Amino acid sequence: MKALVLSGGAGTRLRPITHTSAKQLVPVANKAVLFYGLESIAEAGITDVGMIVGDTAAEIEEAVGDGSQFGLKITYIPQERPLGLAHAVLIARDYLGDDDFVMYLGDNFIVGGITDLVDEFRGNRPDAQILLTRVADPRAFGVAELDPSGQVIGLEEKPDRPKSDLALVGVYLFTPLIHEAVRAIEPSWRGELEITHAIQHLIDSRADVRSTVITGYWKDTGNVGDMLEVNRMVLEGMDRRIDGDVDTASETIGRVVVEEGARIVNSRIVGPAVIGSGTVITNSYVGPFTSIAENCRITDSEVEFSIVLRDSSIQGVGRIEASLIGRHVEVTPAPSVPSAHRFVLGDHSKVQITS
Ligand code: G1P
Repeated sequence: MKALVLSGGAGTRLRPITHTSAKQLVPVANKAVLFYGLESIAEAGITDVGMIVGDTAAEIEEAVGDGSQFGLKITYIPQERPLGLAHAVLIARDYLGDDDFVMYLGDNFIVGGITDLVDEFRGNRPDAQILLTRVADPRAFGVAELDPSGQVIGLEEKPDRPKSDLALVGVYLFTPLIHEAVRAIEPSWRGELEITHAIQHLIDSRADVRSTVITGYWKDTGNVGDMLEVNRMVLEGMDRRIDGDVDTASETIGRVVVEEGARIVNSRIVGPAVIGSGTVITNSYVGPFTSIAENCRITDSEVEFSIVLRDSSIQGVGRIEASLIGRHVEVTPAPSVPSAHRFVLGDHSKVQITS
């Protein structure tokens, strides 16, 4: 069995972070979302991975390399334009050969991995197996309609009037039968070959398409709240580990990870929280559910329930909460006169001011 991991796309819903970074590399608890997916593929006993890449190919390849850090063998398959998930299957035809495969969307996050699911598929070997989860707004997803016995009877891609709240999760298990289906369909209104339509084609031709409903699913929806929530969930599952340097004037409470090369000076860290290597926290408080990435400077400040990406600095600004801060960001107090806010904000930035 092989895996096909999709890591193209523009990530418009996570701007401005994705103006400068591939959406699959946005970190959760200081680790790229894509890495959790690759780890769960390796855990499920799969080693051969085809990785579909687009405009951000260079960045993805730099982060993932040949896959050996995950125990995987990765073959990169460039997709010229984002022409859809079923198009990705089309161009991977030679790579996939006649193997069964799991298709994994690189921006999806499945708590608990996919091992059970892959085992179940290997055991029963239906023609295809899909994952579903209940979501608040199904219009942003592929949506499944089930009959009273739980059988999938219809799938629609991003419908205006969803027939259920069961969204398609971005992990699909396929036999080679899917190759006929992706050749049989036409592009959708958004000009893409939709995998949802290919699976509907399988259903229409009476193939055995099974579904499993899962919980613990996350996908970016442009909602910073969602990102903070998945970050919270992952941090909750971490064990305490202090590999960096914590001075005697500092306190670390509960499930705190201080990576090697990080320094905590005269500060208080209350877990669950993770402090990346090369980061220095001085005269500050870092509160629960916070991930501070590598090479940051937090000085004379308080940060809680937030994600700070690498190489950023927060100095002397009081308390920051429920925030997502990108890479190489500087947050500092303004000079005392004139009394004014001063910004240099990228496109699609969002700022909330208290005074
Ligand atoms: C894609 C699929 C959709 C699925 C979603 C899960 O949407 O088309 O059916 O529910 O992934 O992540 P897209 O990311 O293209 O908006």
